[in-house]
Amino acid sequence: MSKSWNRRDLMKVIGGVAGTSAAGALLAHATAGQAQTNPAPSMRKVPWPYSPLDPDPVAQRSFESYYKFRCMYGAFESIVGTTAEKLGAPYTDFPFELFKFGEGGINGWGTICGAISGCAAAFCVLSPKPDVLIDTLFSWYETEPLPNVRPKGSKFPEVRVVAGSPLCHQSLSRWSKASKKKIYSDERSERCASITASAVHKSILLLNEQAKGTVLPAVVLPGKTPGCMTCHEKGGVLENTRGKQECGVCHTALPASHPKKL
Ligand code: HEC
Ligand code: HEC
Repeated sequence: MSKSWNRRDLMKVIGGVAGTSAAGALLAHATAGQAQTNPAPSMRKVPWPYSPLDPDPVAQRSFESYYKFRCMYGAFESIVGTTAEKLGAPYTDFPFELFKFGEGGINGWGTICGAISGCAAAFCVLSPKPDVLIDTLFSWYETEPLPNVRPKGSKFPEVRVVAGSPLCHQSLSRWSKASKKKIYSDERSERCASITASAVHKSILLLNEQAKGTVLPAVVLPGKTPGCMTCHEKGGVLENTRGKQECGVCHTALPASHPKKL
């Protein structure tokens, strides 16, 4: 049988060990801690209130945050952290560090780029309609020569590449080929910090646009993908795959027998 503890039970147990005055102090401490781990309902509900931000200082902040816990943290912390500071407690108590996991396409797996996944998480916290923001940002990231923001404190020459994919793997490897630098180099860290700043800059513009009441247009996916999707995605004759990213970067050559039309 489980027993629910009341204040007197707790005093008895702690008192037995530490004496009653110390027990009172301990109990006060325990309840204060409890209040802190029970954030106000306003913070637990998304979206949080958002008012437009200046993209330049937030992008700069993301560059600096990158060097603490890397890309996904840098992106999320700069956007949501700046907003949280405007709103005050309990918003500032959010455990931002959890986004460390996004580093290197999630703990070095080279999957989704942490800069854009951090921004996607920020959209979900700050926007009532995050889907169109995510699609717009991801499509931009796939096709834009990046980084296109050069933060203060940058030391190395900028080498812009088109990632061609939302994946960390393609983005890093194309950059390494173009820059002739190693992946575990200071140049690459700075490049990813600047990619983070570029994605954050773009994300703030999108959030601000939406906050003004602009209805952002649905994204027209680039490359061959829309064509492929007609047969292979939802509602197609095959409906045997899922995705919005450019199919052509991996499926470079389809066999001659592959149907052109059905
Ligand atoms: C007109 C409909 C249609 C379109 C458009 C289409 N496919 Fe297919 N695809 C098929 C069919 C049918 C098959 C054969 C499926 C089978 O035999 O199981 C196939 C098979 C495939 C396969 C597996 C076998 C193979 O041939 O390699 C891949 C991969 C593939 N398609 C990728 C793509 C990509 C990438 C695009 C866009 C460039 C695309 N498809 C566009 C109908 C289509
Ligand atoms: C990041 C690389 C990558 C991207 C991008 C990608 N694919 Fe694939 N796709 C693969 C791999 C790897 C397989 C597994 C092939 C295998 O096991 O034979 C696969 C499998 C498939 C298959 C099944 C093939 C079969 O043998 O039946 C289809 C159909 C397919 N992909 C279509 C697409 C379409 C459509 C897109 C774009 C929306 C796309 N893929 C994007 C890498 C990719």
